[in-house]
Amino acid sequence: MSKIGTKCVQAGYTPKNGEPRQIPIIQSTTFKYDTSEDMGKLFDLEAEGYFYSRLQNPTNDYVAARICALEGGTAAMLTSSGQSANFFALFNICNNGDHVVCSSAIYGGTYNLFNVTMRKMGIDFTFVTPDCSDEELEAAFRPNTKAVFGETIANPSLAVLDIERFAKAAHGHGVPLIIDNTFPTPINCRPFEWGCDIVTHATTKYMDGHASGVGGAIVDSGKFDWLAHADKFPGLCTPDESYHGIVYAEKFGKGGAFITKATAQLMRDFGATPSAQNSYLVGLGLESLHIRMERHCKNAQAVAEFLEKHDKVAWVNYCGLPSNKYYAIAQKYLPNGSCGVISFGVKGGRKAAEEFMKNLKVAIIATHVADAHTCVLHPANATHRQLSEAELIKAGVPSDLIRLSVGIEDVEDIIEDLNQALETVR
Ligand SMILES: Cc1ncc(COP(=O)(O)O)c(C=O)c1O
Repeated sequence: MSKIGTKCVQAGYTPKNGEPRQIPIIQSTTFKYDTSEDMGKLFDLEAEGYFYSRLQNPTNDYVAARICALEGGTAAMLTSSGQSANFFALFNICNNGDHVVCSSAIYGGTYNLFNVTMRKMGIDFTFVTPDCSDEELEAAFRPNTKAVFGETIANPSLAVLDIERFAKAAHGHGVPLIIDNTFPTPINCRPFEWGCDIVTHATTKYMDGHASGVGGAIVDSGKFDWLAHADKFPGLCTPDESYHGIVYAEKFGKGGAFITKATAQLMRDFGATPSAQNSYLVGLGLESLHIRMERHCKNAQAVAEFLEKHDKVAWVNYCGLPSNKYYAIAQKYLPNGSCGVISFGVKGGRKAAEEFMKNLKVAIIATHVADAHTCVLHPANATHRQLSEAELIKAGVPSDLIRLSVGIEDVEDIIEDLNQALETVR
């Protein structure tokens, strides 16, 4: 199974003779054993198996294995949200007193998690723009830096990260590069092929694909050598007293240590586990991910080109347009397409944007992106409502900005809808 479309449909779960074709939903909190010795081995991490669904569940693991195959990793786990995936990915290697270098072009929820909540836990962040110079990037590192974090395509700024450049900087300081690959999905970009070490996802978006369930995933490339930087990563390289003195990096190696530790410690203690039912829906979504991504990108490209020519439109931001600042870098990392999300401004500012939104019929107003349905959001009236005009400009979200997530409907209907709504703007 070498091609990505086949992996979408089949990877992670191979039924044996007479078993169900579809991934089974194992709706059970617990699992039965014949002897307490059998169970003891699980608690010692001496044997593989399930004992309690807060830590691991077979349905979740089948789906995680599919995502792992799509990204080309060695181990993966599902979490109950994209937020918990990003939190676990960092908290698995960062302690109180540690520091992370982070792209400033990231999802607002992730920014709050890092800049407010994780700071309260004593983990510090230095934010650098994805377009910063090599010198600025270098200057952001400290002796206590434990990771570099960014998004392949940032939500909502749609900045494209130079993955190789950020990976080189991270590795130069003996730390991993962690990338949230939610927007392009592994169909359009596999960050491990460019030097990234750990990938996260909000499966909530394209992977689920139908706006049906919130979820997340973490995938390890298995390439980062924790033991070579043992002084920086004591959690992986010194005995875990809560697991009978296991040293994860020694026992599970480069390929398994990160995910085993995150499951055994963080999932055990925080319990951010997805329900088997939700994971099943992600698995189902993955079966058509390759087809849907192609359609999302084709539709978004046509919509972006239409908007760019429209006389009521002030500007369009989509990295598939040759006029876009990130066009060249997108050609390198995203040669087959980026994602279905576009942002643009309607001439006439906030009032014009409001008028336009009111008149849409096919595109629905929703605080979501990246599912089958075309949807729009006017951040100045929603997610960024509390900001003044000056603050909106500073945040890179001007009051005329409309975020449009192009779905997989017929593109003629989407364009006709946008056109009639733009015509109503005076
Ligand atoms: C790029 C990105 N990462 C993470 C998240 C957080 O995911 P969730 O809403 O599943 O917690 C989002 C949500 O929009 C996102 O867009």
